[in-house]
Amino acid sequence: MKFFLDTANLDELKKGAAWGIVDGVTTNPTLIAKEGVPIEEQVRKICDIVDGDVSAEVVSTTSKEMIEEGRRLAKIHKNIVVKVPLIREGIVACSTLAREGIRTNVTLCFSAAQALMAAKAGAYIISPFIGRVDDIGWNGMDLIREIVTIYKNYGYNTQILAASIRGPLHVIDAAKAGAHIGTMPFKVLDQLFNHPLTDKGLDQFLKDYKKAFELVPA
Ligand code: G3P
Repeated sequence: MKFFLDTANLDELKKGAAWGIVDGVTTNPTLIAKEGVPIEEQVRKICDIVDGDVSAEVVSTTSKEMIEEGRRLAKIHKNIVVKVPLIREGIVACSTLAREGIRTNVTLCFSAAQALMAAKAGAYIISPFIGRVDDIGWNGMDLIREIVTIYKNYGYNTQILAASIRGPLHVIDAAKAGAHIGTMPFKVLDQLFNHPLTDKGLDQFLKDYKKAFELVPA
């Protein structure tokens, strides 16, 4: 499973990249706005930090404008993946960009039918939002499982990216369900390290070693 960071914050990306386990980055207009830097400038900096797919989302809503915006974003860096919303105009943009060889991430996916349309339009990545599905009392992981089955049935190459991840269990369950990618906030990636038995075990190893060699006369 590929791990992506769902953030546009450069400090978080530098910390994550230093661990050597970050395969890519997803951003959205909300995350870019939080950093207060225009998207072109911010994603260029992100591409210098993480060597992997970096999703940059369009903010226009007509297919014509989305295509133009997508072409501009794709020119910023070879690793840019153009993110388009799963609306009718977005699917038109996805098909057109795909025909031009521009990779797309179709976002705001909340149903298997929507995911099927994105695959048919040639999406490189589909982003089902599991946390937001859970928020309305449905089951986000069922959505991942449905998409995995449907894509397998027809041999679609579109990668399934579990988005809107809220905690470590989402990561584990999405991996079990067969999602190709999990994108998560930095906080969740950091939480994946934690286990009380790791801390307890390391503490014991170090104490035992110190005790044994402290007894040996110099
Ligand atoms: O980038 C899309 C997605 O991961 C957003 O997550 O937590 O705002 O639902 P969230």
